[in-house]
This record gives sequence, C-alpha cells and structure tokens, in this order.
Amino acid sequence: MKDQRQSESLQEKTQSAGERFSSSGFILAAIGSAVGLGNMWKFPYITGQYGGAAFFLLFVICLLLVGLPVLLAELTVGRGGRGNASTSLIRLSGHKLWGGFGFITILGAFVILSFYAVVAGWTLHYAMLSFSGELFKHNDFGLLFSDFNNSWMPVFWQFIVLLLTGFIIMRGVSAGIEKFNKILIPGLVILLIVLCIRALSLEGAGEGAAFFLKPDFSKLSAESALVALGHAFFSLSLGMGAMMTYGAYVDKRQSLGLATLAIGAGDLIYAFLAGLIIFPTTFVFGLEASQGPSLVFVALPAAFSAMPLGSFFGGLFFVLLAFAALTSTVSLLEVPIAFVREAFGWRRSFSVIFLTLLCFLIGLPSALSLGNKVPWLTFGGKPFFDWMDFVCSNIVLPLGGLVVTLFVGYAWRGAAEEAGLSSWWLRLWLFMLRYVAPILVLLVFLYSSGIIRF
Ligand code: PFF
Repeated sequence: MKDQRQSESLQEKTQSAGERFSSSGFILAAIGSAVGLGNMWKFPYITGQYGGAAFFLLFVICLLLVGLPVLLAELTVGRGGRGNASTSLIRLSGHKLWGGFGFITILGAFVILSFYAVVAGWTLHYAMLSFSGELFKHNDFGLLFSDFNNSWMPVFWQFIVLLLTGFIIMRGVSAGIEKFNKILIPGLVILLIVLCIRALSLEGAGEGAAFFLKPDFSKLSAESALVALGHAFFSLSLGMGAMMTYGAYVDKRQSLGLATLAIGAGDLIYAFLAGLIIFPTTFVFGLEASQGPSLVFVALPAAFSAMPLGSFFGGLFFVLLAFAALTSTVSLLEVPIAFVREAFGWRRSFSVIFLTLLCFLIGLPSALSLGNKVPWLTFGGKPFFDWMDFVCSNIVLPLGGLVVTLFVGYAWRGAAEEAGLSSWWLRLWLFMLRYVAPILVLLVFLYSSGIIRF
C-alpha cells in the first residue's frame, strides 16, 4: 500500500504542468524524434543499395501498414500508463513481466544513444570543417574521414552532442524538449528546402532524381522488404520506448490517431526530400549512391567541393544533419531519464547529469573503435560501433516493437478506449496489431539477427 502511494506521488511529480507537451509541441517533438540520422544518413545509402525508387515504395508501404499502427500503439500505451516505458506496461497490465520487457527497450534507447551521439558528433565536426573552408583544402575525403576517426576528435564531438542533449533535457518537457523542437524543426524545414532547390538546380540533376523516383521492381527481393520494414521502425523511433515516453506527456484531449498520421507524414516527407538532395548531388558528380555508411561523410563532401558556394551549402547540409540528430538524441535520453526519476525518485537535474556522463562512458568504445587507436575494439570482423548498431537496430528494436504490438493487440483491454479511434479505424488498427505486424516484425527480427537468410 505504502509502495503504491509512493509510486503514485512520483507519477504525479513527473506529470506536473512543466512535464506536459502542448498539442503542437508534442507533434513537433515526436516528428523531431522520428526525423534524424536515419532519414539522412542511413536511408539514402540503403535506398542506393536496395533499388532506388522501388525500395522507397516498399518503405512507404511498411510505414503505412506496420509502422503507423505500432506508433499509435506506443503512444497509446504511454498516455494510458502515464509512466516510463516500463511502468506504463506494468500499470496497464498489472504484471511485472511486461515491465521487464519495457525495461529492455529503455536499455536499448540508452545504448542507441551512446553510438548515435558519435555519428551526430561527426556532423558537427563536418559542419565546422565545411563553413571554415578547411574541408575543401582536401581532395581525398576517404582519407580525411579515416584520419578523423584515428584521432580523439570523435570523442570530443560525441561529448559535445551529449552535453547539448543534456542541457536541453535539463529544462524539462515543456521548457526544454518542446521549446527546443519548436525552434529547430522550422529551421530544419527551411534548410531542407534551400538544399533541395540547390540540388535540383544542378546541371544533370534529373538523372539522380530519376534513380530515386522511377521504380525498377526487378531490383526488389525479400531482403529489401525486410530492410525496408526494419528501417520503417528505426525511422519512426519505434521499439525503443521513445514514443511511449513522449506519449506519457500528452494531454487526454489530443487525438492520437491524427498525431500518428502527422508524425508519419513528417517522417516520410523528410526522407523524400533528403533523397531529392542526396541522389541528384551524388549523380551529378559521378559518385556512388550505394557506397554505404560513408556516403554522407565521404561522397557528399566531394560533391560539395566541386559545386559553386560548396562550403556554404556543405556547411548548411551538415548543420541540417546535426539539427535532425539532436531532436532525436533528446528523445532517446528522455527514455532512461523518465525511468530513473520514477524508479529512484531522482531529481531531473541529477538524473540528466548522471545519465549523460554514463552514456558518454558507454559510448567511448564506439567512438574509438572506428579508428586505429584501440585495435582490440574490433572483434568478430566488426568494430565495437557496428556491434552496438547491430544489436540495437536488429535485435532490441524489432523485439521492442513486438512487445508493444502483442501488448496492445492481445493483453491490454483498455487500448481501444485510450486510442479513441472510430470503429472502422479501430478494427483496422487491431487487425494490423494482432495479425499483420507481429508476423512481419518477427520476420525482420529473424532475418536481421541472422537466424534466417535468403
Ligand atoms: N528515428 C531516429 C532516426 O531516424 O534517426 C532514430 C531513433 C530515435 C531511433 C529514437 C529510436 C529512437 F527511440
């Protein structure tokens, strides 16, 4: 009884006025979480590798059929449970076991943040290099990138990203996360439009745009479908407790169905425009769009260096990437913050300092493993960074998505009421969560964890 009272008072504390989103603030913050390095760093190179426009189409289908239902499920659980990604599940089900599953998603968010901050740091470094003109004194951008990774600079920039993230979160949900997203998201839209116009006005841009816009279905395979589905999850920030945590700060009057559509549309439009920047730019300068993770840090600088006003547009591009990354790191850090505040009763400020420093330490091996500084950080043929990415994106994320899907589809009877959908939409939603999403998510898990192969 005492325990219950104590947890209720904590719940109230975490739900005070400053700990709530306004309606527009919530939508912007959730779009901010979804839009990130996934859209601009991962999406272009996997689209390049798996078939251009045909892959993009698959991504859209996965987003609509599985991504959006699971996104709505996460938001509904968050608002219904009004707690962190673990306690919400316990409150709504009455069983600790579900809380244990939720806790795994919290750990996942924390670990993703530890290496996501490393890549976010690269974007800040490249923005500086570009604006100062330093970037274009080089002509071997592959070498520049590996020299950078062999230095201590990635650690410095990773620290700066975490510091900025902690600083924003310290101010709370309304004065921190919401306010910051309300400034950065419009900034992001302006930068995106400027860069799109620049890319599409390059001579010969049409060919690159055609690769991205004209589907060639012969390139599709079961593998591309699973990659597209996995990416829809990553891109919508699912399976990591982030949307559950944000959902807990949403007002009861907000329509979660409409919010889900707005977040999905925001994420999709952003990915589409990012494609319209990256593909024409790489094609015009004869570069490979399918070259993998180094596309943005190796191929694009080469392209920017060859275009008029390249250091300005290159700088803008990397600032855009940094903005997008920061709105996502904020959502990732809030997941464990919500947990420790509720579980241990810690103040927000202390939780932020503690977890930011801890995340920095956990991220150190990731930041150092891509260079030649610490050779033993590469094992089993992959650097530590890749292992972290592999385990979180391919194992924890689909499993986290499966937990929420099964929870809302089968275990929680109040889901229908909390979601507030009209009867037709409700039936469709529950059908997707009960029958379609679990099977597809399980397939992604089996494929991406290497248990099944094509
Ligand atoms: N959606 C983000 C991106 O596309 O970069 C990444 C992400 C953020 C994944 C938050 C998971 C998460 F909880």
